[in-house]
Amino acid sequence: MSPAAAGAIGLPRHVAVIMDGNGRWAQRRALPRHLGHRAGAKAVRATVEGCARRGVEALTIFAFSSENWQRPQEEITRLMELFVESIDKEVDELHRNGIRVRFIGDLSRLRTGLAAKIAAAESRTAANQRMTLFIAVSYGGRWDIVEAARRLAARAVTGEIKPEAIDEALFADQLQLAGAPEPDLFIRTGGESRISNFLLWNLAYSELYFCDTLWPDFDDAALDAALRFYASRVRRFGLTDAQATR
Ligand code: IPE
Ligand code: IPE
Ligand code: MG
Repeated sequence: MSPAAAGAIGLPRHVAVIMDGNGRWAQRRALPRHLGHRAGAKAVRATVEGCARRGVEALTIFAFSSENWQRPQEEITRLMELFVESIDKEVDELHRNGIRVRFIGDLSRLRTGLAAKIAAAESRTAANQRMTLFIAVSYGGRWDIVEAARRLAARAVTGEIKPEAIDEALFADQLQLAGAPEPDLFIRTGGESRISNFLLWNLAYSELYFCDTLWPDFDDAALDAALRFYASRVRRFGLTDAQATR
């Protein structure tokens, strides 16, 4: 990135969110965890609309990680039901609002009913241009990187590419978010300050914002606070302050 571009800041082009804290939100109300996930699904709408309204180009939300498959079966089943229900309920509205929906992750692990709904939602909204919503389901940053490496290795074995032709750009082209701008702003709700195997490659230079708000309580004002944090940063990308702010 050129020094001039490095200093430019304002609105993030791409926001990536770890939506954490649904379980604790429910526990604090003496409710079962799955009702926390339901409240969390409702909260997604405000952030999607808030980002689209402000002109963000891409929003990636972490809905279910590779590691979440190790949760109790009952919770996984409820979550998968909720994904199906949410797609049924939300896709019309997303489509009307010009939002393209894409799913990233190891979708081969999903049951066929959900996988079919995902494919239909993606193809229905494919031509929309206002904002792209990437939903990470059964996603792990390490999985993403290993898949990319595997695909490149397979092409190298057939002689289609030479190992020395593999550079950062070619590698990034194999990742799930290929073609999307790098996430400028990363948000994690729920009070933990960790990445939890989210977009390991893509977050290399993202501004990291952690807040205590539990995901179901993350509203437009909370999004605004995150965007203000972002707007106050100087992104240096390894340069000196003087270079970056020139
Ligand atoms: C995030 O909320 C949603 C998923 C991981 C599916 P959690 O379920 O992790 O909520 P806490 O962290 O237990 O409160
Ligand atoms: C990260 O949250 C994954 C999602 C929000 C989908 P977790 O609750 O699974 O992360 P840890 O276990 O606290 O690291
Ligand atoms: Mg959690």
